Amino acid sequence: PEPPELLAALEAALAPADLEGLEVLITAGGTREPIDAVRFVGNRSSGRMGFALADEAARRGARVTVVAANVALPRNPAVDYVAVETAAELREAAVRSFQRADVLLMAAAVADYRPTMAATGKIKKDEQGEALALALERTTDVLSELSSRRRDGQLLVGFAAEAGDGAVAYGRAKLERKGLDAVVVNDIAVPGIGFDTPDNAVTVVTRDSETHLDQASKAEIARAILDMLVTERASSRMETMS
Ligand code: CTP
Repeated sequence: PEPPELLAALEAALAPADLEGLEVLITAGGTREPIDAVRFVGNRSSGRMGFALADEAARRGARVTVVAANVALPRNPAVDYVAVETAAELREAAVRSFQRADVLLMAAAVADYRPTMAATGKIKKDEQGEALALALERTTDVLSELSSRRRDGQLLVGFAAEAGDGAVAYGRAKLERKGLDAVVVNDIAVPGIGFDTPDNAVTVVTRDSETHLDQASKAEIARAILDMLVTERASSRMETMS
């Protein structure tokens, strides 16, 4: 085996096996919606947070599938990846894997709108003149769709990039609206964290708690999020049994 594989095996051997036997589905990165053959509507998500969650979940014994939208980061040999580009492709791949998943971590930045029509070939300035209007249409909300298909025992976690004072309240509203167990809120107004950075600082909102995780590497944030999920899963199973 190559060094990265040896390292992954050693890390897994040393980690707590508290996710052993679980199937974890993670979406990561940012979708790209074509405008024409060479241009797209995209966003600044790098996939770092989703990939850090995948590494950590695999280390702790889970079987991990990552639906990766346009992520240019190294792959972990212990994780299965499905590469996608658009919101529609991400939806299809996520729906396919969701049924067997115990945990869904929806970290991808999925486009809310896409061009109504993608031009075939390349749009030329000569033909467009000084202005170009793009008509956009809504995409499917994948997380809400998966939530409506959930079966007992599945844990669903959304991610919300929000700015400023109302960030946590918006996160809680998303938890209710999309029928989730937790929402990881990151405040994109704070400089140095969030999109395309090695660090993050988040607030994890569950039905009955709000936990702030101070600025740390995405690997450390991933560890803390999964610790909380283990606790959340244990308490929701207790509730089911009682
Ligand atoms: N999401 C999704 N499908 C979409 C848009 C978002 O599954 N078409 C998921 C994201 O992966 C994330 C969560 O929904 O886990 C929150 O996404 P966001 O777009 O911030 O929330 P919205 O409910 O669309 O609210 P708004 O854009 O108005 O803030």
